[in-house]
Amino acid sequence: MSLQGKKIIVGLSGGIAAYKTLTLVRLLVKAGAQVRCVCTPSALQFVTPLSLSTLSGYPLYSDMFSSRNESATEHISYADWGDLLVVAPATANTLGKFANGIADNALSTLFNAFNKTVLLVPAMNTQMYRHPATQENLQKLRAWGAEIMPAATGSLACGTEGEGRMPEAEAIFERINELLQKSCASLQEKKILITAGPTVEAIDPVRYISNHSTGLMGCCIADELAKRGAAVYLVHGPMQASPKAKMFRSIAVTSAQEMFKAATELWADMDMAVLSAAVADYTPLNPSKEKIKKHDESLQLRLSKTQDILAALGKNKQAKQLLVGFALETENELSNAGEKLHKKNADLIVLNSLKDSGAGFAQATNRVTFLEKDGTISPMPLKSKQEVAVDLADRMEYLYGKL
Ligand code: CTP
Repeated sequence: MSLQGKKIIVGLSGGIAAYKTLTLVRLLVKAGAQVRCVCTPSALQFVTPLSLSTLSGYPLYSDMFSSRNESATEHISYADWGDLLVVAPATANTLGKFANGIADNALSTLFNAFNKTVLLVPAMNTQMYRHPATQENLQKLRAWGAEIMPAATGSLACGTEGEGRMPEAEAIFERINELLQKSCASLQEKKILITAGPTVEAIDPVRYISNHSTGLMGCCIADELAKRGAAVYLVHGPMQASPKAKMFRSIAVTSAQEMFKAATELWADMDMAVLSAAVADYTPLNPSKEKIKKHDESLQLRLSKTQDILAALGKNKQAKQLLVGFALETENELSNAGEKLHKKNADLIVLNSLKDSGAGFAQATNRVTFLEKDGTISPMPLKSKQEVAVDLADRMEYLYGKL
């Protein structure tokens, strides 16, 4: 297996399993990867700077304030450099820091700055592994998009048998390989348009009509597709969320009309589009140029229908273009979403119902159902929005392959 050209950061925290990480570094280098190692202070109780720098062929980074560091912000330059960060062993302490945003050493600070693929390999005593604090931290980190390699079962350094062993270096190497194949290659050279967030429709210079969309779901999708190598064109309204990955282009718009213009201009050049924006269906007919004064007892606003972006893209869809829409429903979910799929000529509709607890606006989780053109309906369990984005990206790759 070749990892030629891949840049991998190997992080070690202080656990006895750190000796296995030396073999991992050796395997990665042998496969052609460029490797840099980063240690917490306690990892250096188990392995030496000399062994890590000799095996990786690059000086170890373990002291944020060392005058030997190439730059004063080494954690940022490492985060920009690496394609993947693997932390093995990941101790309970280090996982706790990661899950709580604590940045007090070279590794935890780098973790905070790293926005690409992360693989965490926990290793610790069984009780510590099963402790609710560790499990909750792992769940949180998984929800944020980190890959967690389950601990193996076997004899532990404390003399007991059980869950908590670090998997062997060869197994970690395999997992890194799989993740890099998925994260770097599968959507290379694909151009994907994503709409996200709400639109804002002016009533007058002070007031507007909008909705509760935060844009989080769209940003998670943008991140996942960018991770897989796609050039993502993100057309977004004023949203609270922001993507972590680098977008190919990010186009900020305000109104439904502006979003329509930006999206329709891009579409002909795109391979796929995911329209996750909560676009206003109606907009004030003649927004007032001046602030509306409260002279009258009642006020009537006349609204006109906005143009439907999804329907417009569906109308001009070419044979090798994949179009994904969303449907937010509060009743007759499946039949309404099915109708949108056909009427707007989409290939896939992601249905979410506001009735589901844990789904919808400003939630970290979502429960969706995929409806496809051939009639396939796939209800998914409640997942983090990052995990929903992974499922959607997998489905899009599959459907695009069939076009
Ligand atoms: N959509 C769009 N342009 C609009 C309205 C909606 O592109 N002017 C897209 C949304 O981004 C979503 C899909 O159409 O991908 C469905 O949006 P939704 O609000 O669920 O449905 P509507 O078509 O607006 O219909 P209704 O509000 O009557 O349910």
